[in-house]
Amino acid sequence: MPWDHGYFSSTSYTSGVYRELAPAWLDFAALLKGHQPPRSHEGEAFAYLELGSGMGLGLCLLAAAYPEGRFTGVDFQPDHIVHSRRLAQQLGLGNIQFQEADFLSLAADPGPLAAAHHYVVAHGIATWITAPIQQALLQLASAALNPGGIFYCSYNTFPGWLAASAFQHLGELARQRQGEASAAKAFQQAAASLTSLLGSEETPSALALAQPALRRRLAQIPTQNAAYLLQEYANEGWQPLYVDQLHQRGAAHKLRFHASATLPENFLELLPANVRPAVLAETDPALRQSLQDLAINQSFRRDLFLRGVAASTDSELRQRLSQIMLRLQEAPATDTYRFETSFGQVSGVPERYQQLEACLANGPRSFGQLLEETQLQLAELAKILALLLHAGRVGFDRWACADVERARHVNEQLLTLIRSGRSYAHLVAPASGGSVNFSLVEALLLDGQRRQLGGSELEQQLLEGLKALGRSIKAEPAALLSAFLERQPRLQALGVLP
Ligand SMILES: C[S@@+](CC[C@H](N)C(=O)[O-])C[C@H]1O[C@@H](n2cnc3c(N)ncnc32)[C@H](O)[C@@H]1O
Repeated sequence: MPWDHGYFSSTSYTSGVYRELAPAWLDFAALLKGHQPPRSHEGEAFAYLELGSGMGLGLCLLAAAYPEGRFTGVDFQPDHIVHSRRLAQQLGLGNIQFQEADFLSLAADPGPLAAAHHYVVAHGIATWITAPIQQALLQLASAALNPGGIFYCSYNTFPGWLAASAFQHLGELARQRQGEASAAKAFQQAAASLTSLLGSEETPSALALAQPALRRRLAQIPTQNAAYLLQEYANEGWQPLYVDQLHQRGAAHKLRFHASATLPENFLELLPANVRPAVLAETDPALRQSLQDLAINQSFRRDLFLRGVAASTDSELRQRLSQIMLRLQEAPATDTYRFETSFGQVSGVPERYQQLEACLANGPRSFGQLLEETQLQLAELAKILALLLHAGRVGFDRWACADVERARHVNEQLLTLIRSGRSYAHLVAPASGGSVNFSLVEALLLDGQRRQLGGSELEQQLLEGLKALGRSIKAEPAALLSAFLERQPRLQALGVLP
């Protein structure tokens, strides 16, 4: 058996960053469904393990935002570990380590990873690996958690991936026949051949009629990043699961499904009116989750599992929830509160959202203070905040526990790396315990600004900087500059920039 067990290992992965992996986010999601988080308060020391940490950027940003945390990343791809360790060193992070290891051998002997973590996360792994590796991943996640700890597991689900499954199957067949060297080409060709089997929009083929979503998926393939394309589809173990299948496999390892880190999904009353009654009428939890996913054509889940549930009273839960600190994020003012969610578009009553945002405009507030100031019911406030967090209008506030100076040092190193052509696109936001998007264009503009360049000189320097890296832009430099200037105060408020 090759070392990668059929996982695509010929190229490295992309440097993605996912806000749902932040401890504050995981705690809030757990509390929404009545579980006391593993940390009794924000700022408490904790241990955090990422299984399949990829290029390591996301974990490094968390280590920078949470100085009180101890972070470990595990991945079996040596290129990923070399990259991650070097990045952690370049950023000057002392609270993170990366281990090159296979889930299979760690499941058999977790060594010091055993029962030592408050959080274990595996983003985008479980349904891309073969059955024995998936079983090892779940066994290891469970073994590495403290009782009461949270396991985050995101994965591809049915029915949302049914249409694309024909494409993955054909692409993987073409890859196996053509060999690794032309892997990306095999998938591009599979997309082209499958498209030609769909017929025209006017006279669709039988396949197109049965899988109307396939045409749209295939149209995206030529525009997708080759690294993503291969890591997504070129895995022998690629197998989306129905929700109950993964939940049952987790339960076999003491991992009980608890909540979704896709926050709006914890509020079934937000489901579209035409499917809501059928889902709510089902009382069996597993069947209800399955009906929910079928009703919305779910394609990706971010599930939280618990290893042991701490029974708590309503008042204990209310007390813990009340401590959570929140702040306004980057989002500009709006008077329409329409949220794009996996349940479709959800509209909020503008007055309630405005009232809440007005409270937060005076500075960060705890959940408890917001309850008092808005006079909303706890469940209603929780739902409104879940939607605002989901939309990125509100974030958690960690100003009191953040090491802003250290985070800024990390950001300076990241800026240098971004300007040198590294494909990172995030900086640490210590005030919120997360990160913000930050583009190469913004990094070049910031550099010019610091060198006291004026408007047209700055734009010139931007174009030259991009040219030196072989990049170009379609937008007007002046428009990019004014957008960046407008964004700057919000970045300063988040502690991203001095
Ligand atoms: C799709 S990538 C996700 C990476 C990262 N979590 C992210 O979202 O950017 C899956 C990762 O799991 C790692 N992986 C796959 N099978 C593994 C195994 N058996 N043991 C350890 N790592 C594995 C791969 O090397 C890859 O970095």
